[in-house]
Amino acid sequence: MQYDDPSFAATLVAWQKEHGRHDLPWQNTRDAYLVWLSEIMLQQTQVSAVLGYYARFLERFPTLASLAAAPVEDVMAQWAGLGYYTRARNLHKCAQRVMAEYGGAFPSDPALLAELPGIGRSTAAAIAAFSAGRRAAIMDGNVKRVFARVFGIDSYPGERKTEEAMWARAEALAPAEGIEAYTQGLMDMGATLCTRSSPACERCPMQARCVAFATGRTAELPVRKPKKATPEKFAHMLLLADRGQVLLEQRPATGIWGGLLSLPELAGHGALADDAAAVAAPADAAVAAAVSPFGAMESLERLLPVVHVFTHYKLHIHPLLVTLSSRAALAGEARYQWLDAAALPAAALPAPIKKLLLDLLGERTQARMF
Ligand code: ADE
Repeated sequence: MQYDDPSFAATLVAWQKEHGRHDLPWQNTRDAYLVWLSEIMLQQTQVSAVLGYYARFLERFPTLASLAAAPVEDVMAQWAGLGYYTRARNLHKCAQRVMAEYGGAFPSDPALLAELPGIGRSTAAAIAAFSAGRRAAIMDGNVKRVFARVFGIDSYPGERKTEEAMWARAEALAPAEGIEAYTQGLMDMGATLCTRSSPACERCPMQARCVAFATGRTAELPVRKPKKATPEKFAHMLLLADRGQVLLEQRPATGIWGGLLSLPELAGHGALADDAAAVAAPADAAVAAAVSPFGAMESLERLLPVVHVFTHYKLHIHPLLVTLSSRAALAGEARYQWLDAAALPAAALPAPIKKLLLDLLGERTQARMF
């Protein structure tokens, strides 16, 4: 794929020089220590949160050598409150590696930088660009958003193929001249103009070439992480009604509806997709067999399923309404009990089961199903 387009970089560099940020404390220097420290602090952290930490950190550790020689606890103490503490541990390790392997001078080759602790491909590129003027491509969340909109990339940037294509674009677009302003321009655009929820398209230098702007899709791009479909499960539940009472079973203490009274289940909570045999409605004889400890089945009515949505799945409840011709004594099974219909509203039942029973009770009282 041919991604290069010198006018993209030229437009961005011109905009950065005129409208970008020029006075951040880590700018206007080629000191790799100062650049590296800022880039690590700015990983997943906003400029406003970094400013104070950056100044205090440099007061305590003014040089790479002083950082490398300090106990790691002192480094952690300076980092406290900034978050993502692996960064601080890696920072300290990286300082010691640069002292030991490079005599205290960071390499300028992004490939070598990327081998150091805490420095990924994008951070390596930023350090190489800002500290050595090396042509190297960055790619973070902001750049992904800018690219997705400007180039109309309508697949999820977290997907490997999309991310690879974005890297390929980034590599092709990075200019040989002015890489500092270009790189800063990408960051500035992403942070100040091309924001997630309210992009300032009217001030954007890319407006004329932005696919998202032209097609009114700035709100849809970048494509959000696709939601996984909610798993669908099911349960066949016995709704045994006899002489104004309903049979309930206390659920095990753990698991869904732990300890609550519910309807006995014939088969249940299998995933619809991988448990087709259990999903199938049980035959009349199977229902009669399941009912037999409680009495002799007189009638069976398969009620319409009720859907209950949990946080992680949807449960389809298939009630099997059974009346008895005779009731058997509950043989010492403490977890089963017959409950008067009148006691249902106050009973400790899961909400969907209570609703199912009360709805049915409302409908059927006249028909003497209870
Ligand atoms: N985010 C990451 N690196 C940055 C930098 N050098 N300036 C502003 N924001 C950044």
